[in-house]
Amino acid sequence: MGKGFHISKTVGIVGIVLGAGALATIIALSVVYSQEKSKNENEVKPTDAATSAPTTAPSNEPWDQWRLPQTLSPQTYNVTLWPRLKPDPTGLYIFTGMSSVVFRCVEKTNLILIHSNKLNMTKQPTLTALGSKPAPTIESIVMHTKTQYMAIHLKDELAAGESYELYTEFVGELADDLGGFYRSEYNETGVKKVVATTQMQPTDARKAFPCFDEPAMKAVFYITLYHDPATVALSNDEVNVTADGTLVTRTTFAPTEVMSTYLLAFIVSDFGFIEQNMDKLQIRIFARQEAINAGQGEYALNVTGPILKFFEKYYNVPYPLPKSDQIALPDFNAGAMENWGLITYRETALLYDEEISSNGNKESIVTIIAHELAHQWFGNLVTLRWWNDLWLNEGFASYVEYLGADEAEPDWNVKDLIVLNDVHRVFAIDALASSHPLSFKEEEIQRPEQINEVFDTISYSKGASVLRMLSDFLTETVFTQGLQTYLDNFKFSNTVYTDLWHHLQLAVNGTGTGTSLPKSVQEIMDRWVLQMGFPVVTINTTTGQITQEHFLLDPESKPDRPSEFNYEWFVPISWTKKEVAQPLYWLLKKTDQSNDMKISVDEWVLANINVTGYYRVNYDNDNWQRLLNVLQNSRQSIPVINRAQLIDDAFNLAKAGIIETTLALRTTLFLNSETEYMPWEAALDNLDYFYLMFDRTEVYGPMQSYVGRQVKDLFDYFTSDNKCSDLYNQINALRVACSTGNEECKTLITGWFQQWMANPNVNPIKANLRSTVYCSAIAAGGEGEWNFAWEMFENATIASEKDKLRAALACATEPWLLNRYLKYTLDPEKIRKQDATSTIISIASNVVGQPLAWDFVRANWEYIFKQYGGGSFSFSNLINGVTKRFSTQFELQQLIQFRDDNTHIGFGSGTLAIEQSIERTNANIKWVEKNQEAVLEWFKKPSYL
Ligand SMILES: *[C@@H]1O[C@H](CO)[C@@H](O)[C@H](O)[C@H]1NC(C)=O
Ligand SMILES: *[C@@H]1O[C@H](CO)[C@@H](O)[C@H](O)[C@H]1NC(C)=O
Ligand SMILES: *[C@@H]1O[C@H](CO)[C@@H](O)[C@H](O)[C@H]1NC(C)=O
Ligand SMILES: *[C@@H]1O[C@H](CO)[C@@H](O)[C@H](O)[C@H]1NC(C)=O
Ligand SMILES: *[C@@H]1O[C@H](CO)[C@@H](O)[C@H](O)[C@H]1NC(C)=O
Ligand SMILES: [Zn+2]
Repeated sequence: MGKGFHISKTVGIVGIVLGAGALATIIALSVVYSQEKSKNENEVKPTDAATSAPTTAPSNEPWDQWRLPQTLSPQTYNVTLWPRLKPDPTGLYIFTGMSSVVFRCVEKTNLILIHSNKLNMTKQPTLTALGSKPAPTIESIVMHTKTQYMAIHLKDELAAGESYELYTEFVGELADDLGGFYRSEYNETGVKKVVATTQMQPTDARKAFPCFDEPAMKAVFYITLYHDPATVALSNDEVNVTADGTLVTRTTFAPTEVMSTYLLAFIVSDFGFIEQNMDKLQIRIFARQEAINAGQGEYALNVTGPILKFFEKYYNVPYPLPKSDQIALPDFNAGAMENWGLITYRETALLYDEEISSNGNKESIVTIIAHELAHQWFGNLVTLRWWNDLWLNEGFASYVEYLGADEAEPDWNVKDLIVLNDVHRVFAIDALASSHPLSFKEEEIQRPEQINEVFDTISYSKGASVLRMLSDFLTETVFTQGLQTYLDNFKFSNTVYTDLWHHLQLAVNGTGTGTSLPKSVQEIMDRWVLQMGFPVVTINTTTGQITQEHFLLDPESKPDRPSEFNYEWFVPISWTKKEVAQPLYWLLKKTDQSNDMKISVDEWVLANINVTGYYRVNYDNDNWQRLLNVLQNSRQSIPVINRAQLIDDAFNLAKAGIIETTLALRTTLFLNSETEYMPWEAALDNLDYFYLMFDRTEVYGPMQSYVGRQVKDLFDYFTSDNKCSDLYNQINALRVACSTGNEECKTLITGWFQQWMANPNVNPIKANLRSTVYCSAIAAGGEGEWNFAWEMFENATIASEKDKLRAALACATEPWLLNRYLKYTLDPEKIRKQDATSTIISIASNVVGQPLAWDFVRANWEYIFKQYGGGSFSFSNLINGVTKRFSTQFELQQLIQFRDDNTHIGFGSGTLAIEQSIERTNANIKWVEKNQEAVLEWFKKPSYL
């Protein structure tokens, strides 16, 4: 899956919170191990035979286990589905289906256990033997709603080695619940339209038809869809036969390759499309007709071919399917989903409008497309055996998405952004004592909600960071070579992550680079994969001593779990002495000595060049001072990524109590002459925390004037010369200048907005600046501005524009406007379900909205939980989002109270986010107590020494 709702970089909450980084860093940490979550068990409907039995004693019955037994192995499915896009007389949207599955019996058994969730059987299932022996008679059929099985008990045993066919007919609800086979609705030319679509990953294929719903249970699928003749049906493969009727058309698809159930997709819509051929491969982009007619699919179509070509070369395996469809859906929970051959997207993740979309929208579109296309091989062709290894699948795609995007847009330096978007972001989370290792044991991840919880920042961003480090120290040639033999060896089957290490090792041995690796690939990687966290490497340039230490943000915390490697890593250290690159240095123990790193007074050392390593770096005071000097006087001597790194490392080392907070603040002094995006963004991300902690205190004033002074030249730079080389930093300049009270900036922005209000048909605001302008204009305005923006939101025809307005509406400063807006999130006619939680989070980011959002979430907990509690991304984000500003004892008490009051309802996929929030609030309280005074003094008199 693509990451959760993508948070546009340009969504600034002007005047309230500096920087979208605040929103970006709240992506939840989910810790899955050791948590016994029994809360949802009581919710199982008692209508089922199995669950009406007392649930007290743990049962060893196979249907009470979360994993399928290994007795049966599916070979082919023949699935026919008919979604009804009009409600039945009772107002229910349904689909009907029939499905047969041919499976081989591996081990004799008198039980067929197959996943089936929320499907009603409309006919008695039948069993046929395909071999010579007759099939056993069915004795009874029991639905187990808790474990989501249909259990078919047989009078006799199935024989090992024989094949059988199970046939079922069923009906299910085509609900608007964003999971399984579901419906999405939108209005076009005044008509309400309905799309039937799917989201199977991770465990919802069983909501569309009975199936062995585990990723290693691969099979061939014959899919048929019935649909209205005015609509088009899509699935993973090409259409084979279409039989037109007057009332209904039957579309049969060519059989799929051998594949996992979670990658299936079925869609019926009246969407339009555009297409292009790359060699013989057909590439199509589907979306609402209005969007296609407006050319919004063109950018996606332009970049898909080059990215596919790039991956064919990178993997050295041709694209495995005859076609590649990508489709933008009005209602979609994740960012995107890599269904094999039919990738589904949120509209904002696929559709682009030259006039209206920003550069940030374009960048996120091209990287998300690259991410999903990368999965077509890595994940789809070769699939991890179980969800405990999800990090390798998602981490890999999250790494190579930058390579693919760079191929399509070579001028953007998009590869550098992994440092801000993934490495820095996940550092913040992986530095907590309650973090978790990348890899889980298979038995730790069992239930659907546990599986959902694995889709977290650790899996995506730490996975990406660690693989990037691996590719860097192996060299890209060796890395891709190992990758290629891995894919070739395991195509159409399943693996565990060590299979990749094995193939990388073969590549290392083959090229002779092996001699320069101090340990085997597996030995090095075990330390990054099996233990949580990462080291801070301290280089003492007066003694040449190098040490590593597990980096924990809260110095008083102890890691929740022991590590068999004692929290030590094998650390590849790239470094320069002054500007001169030095050979890679491997730190293989806790403390080591390098005489090369012992330097004279006119030299300086910089380590972790371009932040290819997954660790932080600290130095002795003298070297820090010299680095500050270089930043101040000749910053070009330090690569731009490392200018961002020095800021981010310093702020976080300070937070952990390793260096003084004022040293961190000093790393921002050079910014008054910096024009590059990355250092600015790193600083703003870190200052965000200061704003969250201090914008209700006396620190706020002096902090505002300092930041305002620092940004002044940047603002002048971008407004005077009309430079647009660095679009992102232009946005930062405007956003920060306005939010720190720059009058010129305010006049500019409100002027543009007034112009627009005077003539709503012509929006004079540049696409790139819209988020910022909308937000500050609404913050400065009142009901008139708000209502105007709401009307523009309702009328917007491209989702990215809608998103900008939706975020900006949260910038209002009148409590009653924000309260009304909060209420809108409960009404799907006003705010789509997919957007509800992110809207509440935006409101909570606003210092005025924060207490309102917190009250709102508490008051409506039961409803919110029922609507969103199971989803993988948005729910933990919500909890983190509304509590991230908490920094007082009073707030801590409220949070604990909230947890205790709602144990009977539960927190679903946000269970750990609650614990996380409590840990974070505690840390905030301590940090504020310790730092407030010194920070206030420094902002009053910012000084270089
Ligand atoms: C699939 O099932 C349909 C209807 O039951 C049948 O007409 C069709 O021949 C079957 N296809 C395959 C490949 O078995
Ligand atoms: C399935 O059966 C349940 C219980 O009888 C009923 O409430 C539900 O509406 C049915 N679903 C469909 C789609 O018919
Ligand atoms: C198309 O369907 C026919 C019969 O239904 C089948 O024999 C043939 O193999 C199918 N072709 C493809 C490419 O799937
Ligand atoms: C897509 O490519 C065509 C042909 O190169 C170009 O004219 C068009 O501007 C591109 N569209 C977008 C949105 O990039
Ligand atoms: C769609 O249009 C109908 C009537 O035209 C209206 O009642 C409804 O609110 C609209 N829905 C959305 C989501 O805009
Ligand atoms: Zn993914």
